[in-house]
Amino acid sequence: MPLSYERHIFRSWETNAEAWTHEVRHNNIESRKLVTNQTIIDAVLSCQPSRVLDLGCGEGWLTRALIDRQIDTFGIDASTQLIDYANRASSDRYAAISYEELFKKEAIDKYDTVVCNFSLLGQESVELVFRNIRKILATKGAFIIQTIHPVVGCGSEQYVDGWRAGSWDGFSPTLTDPAPWYFRTLESWFRLFSSNQLDLVDFQEPLNPTTNIPASVVFIARVADENSPLVNDG
Ligand SMILES: C[S@@+](CC[C@H](N)C(=O)[O-])C[C@H]1O[C@@H](n2cnc3c(N)ncnc32)[C@H](O)[C@@H]1O
Repeated sequence: MPLSYERHIFRSWETNAEAWTHEVRHNNIESRKLVTNQTIIDAVLSCQPSRVLDLGCGEGWLTRALIDRQIDTFGIDASTQLIDYANRASSDRYAAISYEELFKKEAIDKYDTVVCNFSLLGQESVELVFRNIRKILATKGAFIIQTIHPVVGCGSEQYVDGWRAGSWDGFSPTLTDPAPWYFRTLESWFRLFSSNQLDLVDFQEPLNPTTNIPASVVFIARVADENSPLVNDG
């Protein structure tokens, strides 16, 4: 049976755990060094959080950066190897668990801020996170996402939602087995928030200072009022 795109995402991060950890910890990814690392730290701090969940934390750099700023932060990721690296750097602050497993749990801890830094990659898995995010967010909690800017990430393909072939172009040749990823237009991202009763309170397009092209897009949403009507996704 062929590997589903979602399973391929898991496999790819497990395969690349060592090489990815090396790239992140040696600050080898230019856009992260120039823009996106500070952007996501600032976005989280702007929400004045006291308890943060770093969803899809990878080797855990953001969790550690927030702990260093005295913010109680916990990281989860599906890759057991990445979580191993994370725990070796700052133990007891991480757990190897997928989004799918997290939301199946009967009792889930609540956080006032949940952050996803380039960790929403699939289709069903991302829709599942949006559908269930209110289970882990406290009242008026903040949901922060940094991801590839759709207009920039679209390249020469059609500007429509759909699975795209993965690529490590521009990254170290030590990274292999690129997984497919699910492309969403900006409109489609906005609809994910509105159809899941999340109010978008900030939207940022941080520029790469060398190219003046957006290095990413950042969404900050808050849980909408319990009584507000659900917007139909159809
Ligand atoms: C590009 S890395 C980003 C890691 C980290 N947030 C960072 O800023 O370095 C994407 C991460 O998302 C995780 N991920 C993707 N889909 C996931 C899922 N369904 N459940 C848990 N983790 C997932 C991967 O394992 C990987 O570590």
